[in-house]
Amino acid sequence: MGRKQQCFLRTFGCQMNAKDSEKLRGILRETGFSLTESEDADLVLYNTCTVRENANLKVYGHLGYLSNLKKKNPRMIIALCGCMMQEPDVVAKLQKSYRFVNLIFGTHNIFKFAELLYAVLEGQRKAEQMMLPEPSGAAAAAEETPPISQRHTVVKTPMIVDIWKDTNQVVEDLPADRTYSFKSGVNIMYGCNNFCTYCIVPYVRGRERSRRPEDIIREIEQLSADGVIEVMLLGQNVNSYGKTLSNSVSFAHLLEMVEQVPGIRRIRFMTSHPKDLSDELIEVMKRSQKVCRHLHLPLQSGSSRILEKMNRRYTKEQYLELAAKLRREIPDISLTTDIIVGFPGETEEDFQETLDVVRQVRYDSAFTFIYSKRTGTPAAAMEEQVPDDIVKDRFQRLLGLVQEISQKMAKRVEGQTLPALVESLDDHDPALMTGRLSNNLLVHFPGTEDLIGQIVDVRLTTCKGFYYLGEMA
Ligand code: 5AD
Ligand code: SF4
Repeated sequence: MGRKQQCFLRTFGCQMNAKDSEKLRGILRETGFSLTESEDADLVLYNTCTVRENANLKVYGHLGYLSNLKKKNPRMIIALCGCMMQEPDVVAKLQKSYRFVNLIFGTHNIFKFAELLYAVLEGQRKAEQMMLPEPSGAAAAAEETPPISQRHTVVKTPMIVDIWKDTNQVVEDLPADRTYSFKSGVNIMYGCNNFCTYCIVPYVRGRERSRRPEDIIREIEQLSADGVIEVMLLGQNVNSYGKTLSNSVSFAHLLEMVEQVPGIRRIRFMTSHPKDLSDELIEVMKRSQKVCRHLHLPLQSGSSRILEKMNRRYTKEQYLELAAKLRREIPDISLTTDIIVGFPGETEEDFQETLDVVRQVRYDSAFTFIYSKRTGTPAAAMEEQVPDDIVKDRFQRLLGLVQEISQKMAKRVEGQTLPALVESLDDHDPALMTGRLSNNLLVHFPGTEDLIGQIVDVRLTTCKGFYYLGEMA
């Protein structure tokens, strides 16, 4: 075409997907694509999420829009990958009703992206060749046939689908284009073995497998050499890190190893399962100057009865004890959580137990979700699905309480001077910079762009509810 091919990449969902998209971007760069902000591109790639039904609905909505774009630009390649593609029903639906999609692959074979893309391009080339009129000698000489790129015929290329059901592979050394120069997510493990009964993740991300510590440390050393000062260790359940390795290393020990990497000043991690959170980890966090004062500890429900039905393997009392220990041992820690409202069979009494835990733990912030039925999970087959209006009412009450408490918790550090990693210009006011405190709160303060990527001391002057206004100390 005489120019670089352009790709629009849209990422749905969690930090894992964001990290996978960095790898996809790396592969795209290596294969000669440049990225564009416009969806009217040569290649549109969606990295999808399926944790809740509305994530799927969003993708179908966008596909409707893409089909219109493709009518105007028939050579556009549409590719879908990520968790939603690991669902056989989804793929069947796409194959039946969304034939304009060119490529579908899953979470286990991202490393094959370049090869798959090549196959699509080859298919497209062959289809176009088959549509070429027989060149008559005179017409060919006079170049009457316009180049392929300028023809507006609909080119029907086959849909390439390559989904792996599961894998025990860990693929190292994929290229990656990071979103930030100074901070980065680092996968330490993939998949999940917990099978919480509402959750589709174990089905779409496969069995738990840990990366070898030496590979993780080598990556972090490389990141540090590239200017990264904060790493976020990523896994569905980082507390069970190492269990699949022959030389088993605990997560707490891995943290200590990461601490030793020169140049790394902050360490975060996501997500912790309460059933696996060890005293050893609390000790390491307590003593560490680098591990951030933030722990995301999903509660899901405060009712022991519902927790059992969810297969969470802890009780309300065990959770409360753990949270109290964390607050006692590390008083400046920020505790955040995920809560699901309306799990099958949840009664008003169960819901009151959830509110009770929220009141007792006093979360610094909480993500609240309405239960979403995921096909193939045990909870989807449970009776007593809670009616929508009741769920919505509970959700609003929970949200109100969570917000009231987190505003009060944010006030805890008002007036203090704390180090903040400067991440960006403020979205609304370019005279302000946005920094992140160790406890994950954001602070906006007057500063200049050259501060981005540095850790500076900021006095937290005014608490604005969920964030701060401040000034450099
Ligand atoms: N419905 C609602 N929320 C869910 N989550 C996971 N599965 C579901 C579901 N089926 C929430 C959990 C998890 C977070 C990432 O998403 O709270 O911690
Ligand atoms: Fe899903 Fe539970 Fe695994 Fe988290 S721990 S990914 S909620 S199954």
